[in-house]
Amino acid sequence: MEDKFSFIVNGKTIVTTEDVNLLDFLRDDLGLISVKDGCKEGACGTCTILVDGKAMKSCIFTTKKVAGKEITTIEGFTEREKEVFAYAFNNTEDDIVVTSVNEVFSVDEDKLLPEYLCMFFNRTEFDRYARFHSWGSARETFTWDDLVKVEIPIADMKTQKSIADIYKAYKERKAINDKLKVKIKDICPILIKGSIEKARKAKEA
Ligand code: FES
Repeated sequence: MEDKFSFIVNGKTIVTTEDVNLLDFLRDDLGLISVKDGCKEGACGTCTILVDGKAMKSCIFTTKKVAGKEITTIEGFTEREKEVFAYAFNNTEDDIVVTSVNEVFSVDEDKLLPEYLCMFFNRTEFDRYARFHSWGSARETFTWDDLVKVEIPIADMKTQKSIADIYKAYKERKAINDKLKVKIKDICPILIKGSIEKARKAKEA
């Protein structure tokens, strides 16, 4: 007898005998095209869904693996939930993938530096503010409409640039420091081994 895999997708029970990639199944068999195929190897996150309430990449699952579980895609969200504000800042020359949960916006760069705005969003105080003003229980929701009500203290452009430059230098130094730490971790045992060897030879001489 053929195996049957049963799971819930956006509140509906689905039963299938196909043991196939979950991303393909959601898109091709169920027509849930909010689930995007970006890399198909668990790297980009464009295929993210909720499995039993936790964000997971669907491309690394099969229909067999999710048997008995509950899946939610963007199509299963309420209208209000679809408005969740998601934040990302592309300060590279690289293209980025924008999913259906993202609002895309630019700023008037004569008045506000994107880097300065990014710093404001990154502050733990803003995180606390957003949590306080979000709604919902299991999933907190802070929407684009909520975001545009946030009052941001805007300094003059020169001050914004100075602050952004200092922060950038700090981030670069931190990245260099973190890389050094990893290198030192690898080198340390070699140095210690060398010192022990040297001491041993000196003792024997
Ligand atoms: S398609 Fe890229 S992580 Fe799944």
